Amino acid sequence: MARSLQASFQKSGGEFALAATLVPPDLAPAPHELGGVRLFTNVADLIAWRPSLVIECASHEAVRDFVPTLLRNGLHTIIVSVGSLGDKTLFQSLKAAATEGRSRLTAVSGAIGGLDVLRSARSAGLSSVAYTGMKPPNAWLGTPAADAMDLAALEEPTVIFKGNAEQAALLYPKNANVTAAVALAGNGFEATEVILIADPALTRNCHRVDAKGAFGSFSIELQNEPLPDNPKTSWLAALSIEEAIFRHFRSVDV
Ligand SMILES: NC(=O)c1ccc[n+]([C@@H]2O[C@H](COP(=O)([O-])OP(=O)(O)OC[C@H]3O[C@@H](n4cnc5c(N)ncnc54)[C@H](O)[C@@H]3O)[C@@H](O)[C@H]2O)c1
Repeated sequence: MARSLQASFQKSGGEFALAATLVPPDLAPAPHELGGVRLFTNVADLIAWRPSLVIECASHEAVRDFVPTLLRNGLHTIIVSVGSLGDKTLFQSLKAAATEGRSRLTAVSGAIGGLDVLRSARSAGLSSVAYTGMKPPNAWLGTPAADAMDLAALEEPTVIFKGNAEQAALLYPKNANVTAAVALAGNGFEATEVILIADPALTRNCHRVDAKGAFGSFSIELQNEPLPDNPKTSWLAALSIEEAIFRHFRSVDV
């Protein structure tokens, strides 16, 4: 996604630029892969360089290893690995670091939508919030579903998991970003129902959110196209990073 962001900024004519990247030495790209972007291999050097905004676009480990330090040192940070916020201890330390550093932590909406509705509606009370993730069977390879059933043999939509967002985050960590985003915007991890489905008729990853509460009711469904050169990631997730960056910098937020 970071590469997609870089390409998009280059195409859109220079209002924003990805100026530097922080990657531990063992993961660092070769110089010819950097495309003019400055490489930092430790967080202290990046902090000393004072970037105007940092985007975590890497992994849950990167959130844990770098983001508290960045926030504590006053650097505003947008995170894409939203599932990491399911770790209550980490989330608390991020909040404390942002307060201490007078910085701002922003989680992108990522591959899901409708979070504005959940956030607006929750103060009047949400009686139920359910997230349903529907993917082609082979998208669930490497998950507990692959041990429990023969995914390749499925002929109809099959529920592979039903529980709350807390349990889903543990058993299906690769799906954790969207479930965490819904849980954090709405009723929290324990009170958010999660249903995961393997559907052989699907070619794209689909997400559905249904919520009811004092405000009324709401349903949203997304059929996400993958990023052209990264089939496991939704294009919308990469686009949501650009949106979060624009909102951070622009003085008119409409
Ligand atoms: N919020 C959402 O809806 C959403 C959607 C898709 C992916 N994601 C998350 O965003 C993150 C990036 O996804 P992607 O598809 O671009 O992944 P990717 O695997 O294609 O790219 C991740 C890059 O980050 C680098 N990296 C890994 N750990 C790092 C670390 N500790 N420090 C610095 N760099 C590190 C890797 O070398 C790789 O180049 C993942 O954590 C993924 O779970 C979130």
